[in-house]
Amino acid sequence: MCGIVGYVGDEDSAPILLDGLRRLEYRGYDSAGLAVHHDGQIGVVRAVGKLRNLEKALSQAPLAGTVGIGHTRWATHGRPSEVNAHPHVVGPVAVVHNGIIENHLQLRKRLADQGHSFVSDTDTEIIAHLVALELENGGELESAVRRALTQVEGAYAIAVISTSEPDTVVVAKSSSPLVLGIGDGATYCGSDIPALLPYTREMIFLEDGEMAVLRREGVSITKLDGTVVEREATHIDWSPVMAEKAGFKHFMLKEIYEQQRAMEDTLRGRLDRESGDIHGHEIGLSTDDAKAIKRVYLLACGTSHHSAIAGRYYIEKLAKIPTTVELASEFRGRDPIVGEGDLVIAVSQSGETLDTLEAAKLAKAKGAKVLAIANVIGSAIPRMSDATFYTHAGPEIGVASTKCFTTQLANLLMLSIFLGARRGVLGDEERAALVEGMARVPHLMNDVLVGTKQLVANLARRYNHARDVLFLGRGLSFPIALEGALKLKEISYVHAEGYAAGEMKHGPIALIDENVPVLVLVPKDSTYDKSIGNLQEAKARDAQVIAIATEGDDEVAAICNDVVTIPAVDEVFTPFLTVVPLQLYAYFVADMKGTDVDQPRNLAKTVTVE
Ligand code: G6P
Repeated sequence: MCGIVGYVGDEDSAPILLDGLRRLEYRGYDSAGLAVHHDGQIGVVRAVGKLRNLEKALSQAPLAGTVGIGHTRWATHGRPSEVNAHPHVVGPVAVVHNGIIENHLQLRKRLADQGHSFVSDTDTEIIAHLVALELENGGELESAVRRALTQVEGAYAIAVISTSEPDTVVVAKSSSPLVLGIGDGATYCGSDIPALLPYTREMIFLEDGEMAVLRREGVSITKLDGTVVEREATHIDWSPVMAEKAGFKHFMLKEIYEQQRAMEDTLRGRLDRESGDIHGHEIGLSTDDAKAIKRVYLLACGTSHHSAIAGRYYIEKLAKIPTTVELASEFRGRDPIVGEGDLVIAVSQSGETLDTLEAAKLAKAKGAKVLAIANVIGSAIPRMSDATFYTHAGPEIGVASTKCFTTQLANLLMLSIFLGARRGVLGDEERAALVEGMARVPHLMNDVLVGTKQLVANLARRYNHARDVLFLGRGLSFPIALEGALKLKEISYVHAEGYAAGEMKHGPIALIDENVPVLVLVPKDSTYDKSIGNLQEAKARDAQVIAIATEGDDEVAAICNDVVTIPAVDEVFTPFLTVVPLQLYAYFVADMKGTDVDQPRNLAKTVTVE
C-alpha cells in the first residue's frame, strides 16, 4: 500500500504534491519522492524514510515546475532504499505506482532478454520501461500508457509523466484506489480523498480498468480499450479529521473494513486458480527442502501468536508435519531442542518484536531454517531470516491488530497448502479446491462484516457493562476465541478470557452466572457436536450465550440468546469469517465506553523491549 499524487496547474507543484503526500503518509512511509517537469526535463528527488527526509532533500535541491507527480512508499517489492523509491524514471518517462504487478518477473525477464537493464528491485520500474518502449513506437503518452498496461497483470494505480508532454499527467487504475480532483484551472490525482481536500472538493472516482489524462482545463477519462467515459464530479464535504481516516471514526474500524482489500493483495500473485496451486517462490523452499522438514516451530507474540496456533492446525492437517507453537518469550527463555531439519516460522506483523526476533535468532544459531511471515518489508525479522513470506496488509495504524491477523492466517494457510503439495500428502483435487475456496474468502469476509455489523453493535450495546466475558472455541475456533478475548481486553479494558471450549469445565465454568456473556464459536465443522455440548453447559448455568454459528443452524438458534451467522464454508476458512464479528464486538464495546481505541493505554504497536 502506497500513496500517489499528481498535479497539473499554474502553481508551483512541489509544495502541493508534498502536502498531498503528508495526508497520505498513513499509507506508507519508508521512502518518498517527487518528479516535476522543468524546462523540457523531469527533475526527480527521492529520499528514504519519512516525508521530512524528502522535504530536507528538496530544500537542498528544489524542484521548480507546475506539473508533477509524487509518491510515499510502503515497500512490497524491494526493500526500502533510495533506488527502490518512486518515481521510477526510464528515458523520458517517470512513473509512480501503488499496487502489485503480478507478472513482473515474466516481464522483467522479457525486457532483460531484449537488452534492458534495471536499477531497482521494484515491479514499478517495469511499467516505466514498458511506457518508454511504447513511446518510442510513436503516438501520445496516453496511448503509450494504454499499450503498456495491456501487458501488465495485477493491481495498480499509476501516474505517469513524460518529457514529450510537459502539460499532462496520465493516470490509470486497476484494484488500487485513485481519485481525480477538479480545480479552477488545475487538476489533481491522489490515492485518497484527503490528499486533495485542501485544493478541491470536486472529485471523480476512477473505476477499475479506466485511465485519465489530466490537463489544466480538465480531465478526460477512457476505458483501457479506448471507450470514452463521461462522469460528473462528486462534491465531498468531509471534515479534515474524517478525511484522514477516510470517513471512519477510528483507524481500527477502517482497518477492519480494509480486510477484503488486504486479503486480496496478500493472495495476489500467490494463489493460482488456473493451476489450482500456490506460487511459493518467496517461501524459499524447494520440493526437496519441503520433504526434508522434520518438524515446524511457530514462534510469535500477541495476536500473531493466535494466528500461529491456527497455523499449527493448517500445517498438521494439510502438510502432515509435527508442529509446535511457542510464545517467543518462553521459547527463548528455555534451552529449546531445535536444530537442523526444523523449520522455524517467525510470525510478526511489525517484523521487529524483540522476543520473536531473539527467539528466531536462537533457532537459527542452533541450525534451524527460519522463515518469516511479516508485514513490514525489510524489518529486522525478515532481514535475519532465510526467507520471508510477506503479508500485504499495508500499514496498520490501530494498535489492536486486525487486518494483519487475517492476512497472517492467509499466509499460513497458503504455506500449508504449498508444503502439503510439495511433500505429496495433499492430492491435486483437494489442493485445487482449497485454492478455489481461498480465492472466495476476501469477499465472504466483507459479506460477514456488512451483514453482521448492526447486530453486533446491538449486542455490544446490550452487554457493554459486563465485567467479565468468556470466549470459547474448539479446533480452529480456539485461536479465534483467544483473539476475540484479546481484542476486547486490549481496547475496552474489560476482563475477557479465551478458552478451549473443552477446558471450560476445568475452571472458567466457575465464573459463569447470568451476568457473564459467553461468546461461543460453533461453526458447522468437525468439532460442532462437542461445541454444542459446551454451549449447553454454559446455558445451563444461566450464562447469556451469544453464538457465532453457520447460517441456517436452527439448533444453535434455539439454545442461545443471540446468534451471529457466517456463511457455510470449508472448515479451514471459518477463522477468517468468525473473527470479523469478534473484532467488531471489541470495537463497539470500546467505542461505547469511550476508550482510546487506536492507542489503548499501556500498549504499543511494536514492542522492542523484553
Ligand atoms: C504488540 C501489539 C500487538 C501484536 C504484538 C506482536 O503487543 O500491540 O497487536 O500482536 O505486539 O507484534 P508483532 O509485530 O510481532 O506481530
